[in-house]
Amino acid sequence: MEPRPRPVAVAVNALLCVLSLCVSAAEAENVTTYDAKNFGAKGNGVDDDTKALVAAWKKACGTPGTVTLVIPPGTYYIGPAHFHGPCEAVAITFFLQASTCGVLMAATDLKRFGNDWIEFGWVTNLTVVGQNGGVIDGQGAASWPFNKCPVRKDCKVLPTSVMFLNNQNTVVRDITSVNSKFFHIALLHNNNMRMSNLRIHAPENSPNTDGIHIERNTGVIISDSRIGTGDDCISIGQGNHNIYIARVHCGPGHGMSVGSLGRYVGEGDVTSIHVTDMTFQGTMNGVRIKTWENSPTKSFAARMLFENMVMKDVQTPIIIDQKYCPYYNCEHRYVSGVTIEDIKFKNIKGTSTLPVAVLLRCGVPCRGVVLQNVDLSYNGQAGTLSHCENANATYVGYQHPQPCI
Ligand SMILES: *[C@@H]1O[C@H](CO)[C@@H](O)[C@H](O)[C@H]1NC(C)=O
Ligand SMILES: *[C@@H]1O[C@H](CO)[C@@H](O)[C@H](O)[C@H]1NC(C)=O
Repeated sequence: MEPRPRPVAVAVNALLCVLSLCVSAAEAENVTTYDAKNFGAKGNGVDDDTKALVAAWKKACGTPGTVTLVIPPGTYYIGPAHFHGPCEAVAITFFLQASTCGVLMAATDLKRFGNDWIEFGWVTNLTVVGQNGGVIDGQGAASWPFNKCPVRKDCKVLPTSVMFLNNQNTVVRDITSVNSKFFHIALLHNNNMRMSNLRIHAPENSPNTDGIHIERNTGVIISDSRIGTGDDCISIGQGNHNIYIARVHCGPGHGMSVGSLGRYVGEGDVTSIHVTDMTFQGTMNGVRIKTWENSPTKSFAARMLFENMVMKDVQTPIIIDQKYCPYYNCEHRYVSGVTIEDIKFKNIKGTSTLPVAVLLRCGVPCRGVVLQNVDLSYNGQAGTLSHCENANATYVGYQHPQPCI
């Protein structure tokens, strides 16, 4: 049940040190270090540094051995930038030494962008690490009004701030992402990824500013982070296996979700998800599994454990919703093709801001849903309620709200 992602085999020598000592310590360990400023990056917040940063990356990536690319303190104004492998380097570190005035700032002209802004792709043994914040500022406020995705299915998707695509063995640490135009961070088709100490924020009313969206990855660990945005804190999409999430604070935003699943043909199963020691404050949902009600293919969402969660003023702390259909007039005539199996919610306590604190709305009957030790009160005063459809849940330990009969 408990996912055991393989340990990350990355040369982290350059990082096992105290802040500004890092580079010298790294040099002592035979690391080749490049400074982006030697490639023409200005870091003055005015000139476009895209070409300089990409040139510096190409040099670093093409260097055999262990390599660090330092982005020294400053404000780097960049448009879409792709940092791609495969690299000659056996391990490569992208070291964002932002200070309080130092950020990577997105160009605001939307016409320049494809699906994402900063993309790390096809790299093995990559470390992306920040210092003094390591701020990545998507400057999304100007583009949020152009995002029609919350209301229209055929919308144009805005760029994600940081995309990790097809990488093997990646560490991401001590990075701050603010005001993305769309998702803050997306993980697509990576193997063995470890992320910690992230700070992610955007205003509560910013559209689709999901913190971390995960799709088709194997072996992802996300821990010790704070995420507050206008959408999901972390969303686990289709085709993910062995995902472990611990000690993340979510809020404001929509909470943590598995899904939405079952929208497209050919989606993969989602299995072995372990989420533990989370806090949710002022979010719409706590943990939610959502699947489209009229999905074109069959898949499984199975073997998930959500445990040790504290909910503070969360609308609906526990949800399984297999009738997810936000766009058109839904008749609820269809049954989702996603089968939900072996899902446990354990030690969940706190307060809800709606009376129904546990909503289990399954399509084909869910198999093996277990609730153990649930203690949720409605605004801290009255009792809460459960609502179930085809849930067939099993209850262990104490239950507030009362179980569905
Ligand atoms: C990645 O790092 C591991 C462990 O240091 C090393 O054995 C492997 O060769 C590296 N892979 C590549 C493609 O550089
Ligand atoms: C409900 O769960 C029990 C025990 O897990 C199982 O024996 C039964 O077949 C389930 N019923 C349905 C309708 O799935």
